[in-house]
Amino acid sequence: MSTLQNDLYLRALLREPTERTPIWMMRQAGRYLPEYREIRKEAGDFMTLCKNPELACEVTMQPLRRFPLDAAILFSDILTIPDAMGLGLYFEAGEGPKFERPVRDLAAINKLGVPDPEQELGYVMNAVRTIRRELKGSVPLIGFSGSPWTLATYMVEGGSTKNFSEVKKLMFAEPQAMHKLLDTLAQSVTSYLNAQIAAGAQAVMVFDTWGGVLSPRDYREFSLRYMQQIVDGLTRENEGRRVPVTLFTKNAGPWLDEMAKTGADALGVDWTTDLADARKLVQDKVALQGNMDPSMLYASPARIEEEVATILASYGHGHGHVFNLGHGIHPQVDPDHAAAFIEAVHKLSPAYHR
Ligand code: CP3
Repeated sequence: MSTLQNDLYLRALLREPTERTPIWMMRQAGRYLPEYREIRKEAGDFMTLCKNPELACEVTMQPLRRFPLDAAILFSDILTIPDAMGLGLYFEAGEGPKFERPVRDLAAINKLGVPDPEQELGYVMNAVRTIRRELKGSVPLIGFSGSPWTLATYMVEGGSTKNFSEVKKLMFAEPQAMHKLLDTLAQSVTSYLNAQIAAGAQAVMVFDTWGGVLSPRDYREFSLRYMQQIVDGLTRENEGRRVPVTLFTKNAGPWLDEMAKTGADALGVDWTTDLADARKLVQDKVALQGNMDPSMLYASPARIEEEVATILASYGHGHGHVFNLGHGIHPQVDPDHAAAFIEAVHKLSPAYHR
């Protein structure tokens, strides 16, 4: 196994010294890139792209050819697990993900199995292996999954939702059924991420996009508890190196201290919390990733650079910061503005590491 040429991202996640702040962008492969839209048109639909390891690899590499990013992220989706459980995932143009067979009661929940990652999800592991080969040790590869709570929202609602009424109905009216669903998902996510690590993912991230719609008590009981179960079950070393794990709950500002106690190496932070406050809360126990508002990429390159300067100053001196957006890049963003963003981090961050 060749050594990594650029391991800034892995070192920053472990709060080890780096000469500058590493950067990658959530959803860095995607519709804002014309070369993505081209391949996507040829493939027909999004899941066809995900299920073809060569195409998934090509799309993963696209942003790395354009920009000096410090990590690649597997091109896939969080909804591969419920798809493998037999819920029938499909994407309707302009409406986001949908399931043919949502899960609404204990009977349906009891029927769900834990997918075998090398069987039903073998296409994901093949994509990981193909991408690792193609990266040739240039930058590390990030594997990922959704959190049990976030996956449950899609599985119970049958797709995206604004008010979470079905999933909250299940949670409050039949908490034991909800716990059974979340436990099955936590087991599935743990084996899925461990298989990604065995296939070559050098770091993993858990996306809890919807944990922030819960009360603090319900967040602890229905989201954080199952992320804890995952962190406890993950392989933490492979190829002679630590495999860092990042947890990201959107809108979790006040709970970052509790999240830091899970044993995760790093936490994702969105733009509604200042990194200075986040850093105080976690007491340098974990690294922090974030946190520019993705909409800032609509502003001029000069304004973007100003915002990068503000965020770097907010984190302050010292190691343990991975620059990122606070959520995925928007499809309407001009790729040249993404380039300006990345360039600003390269230019301004070394001062914080001296
Ligand atoms: O970051 C990356 O570049 C890796 C790829 C990635 C995708 N989805 C590709 C994708 C990752 C890490 C995800 C995670 C994901 N998927 C999350 C968690 C992170 C977040 O954004 O909150 C969630 C909630 C999903 C579920 C999902 N997938 C939704 C709601 C949608 C539709 C919304 C949209 O942006 O169209 C998807 C589709 C999806 N996943 C696309 C991509 C590139 C767009 C598909 C297309 O039309 O080409």
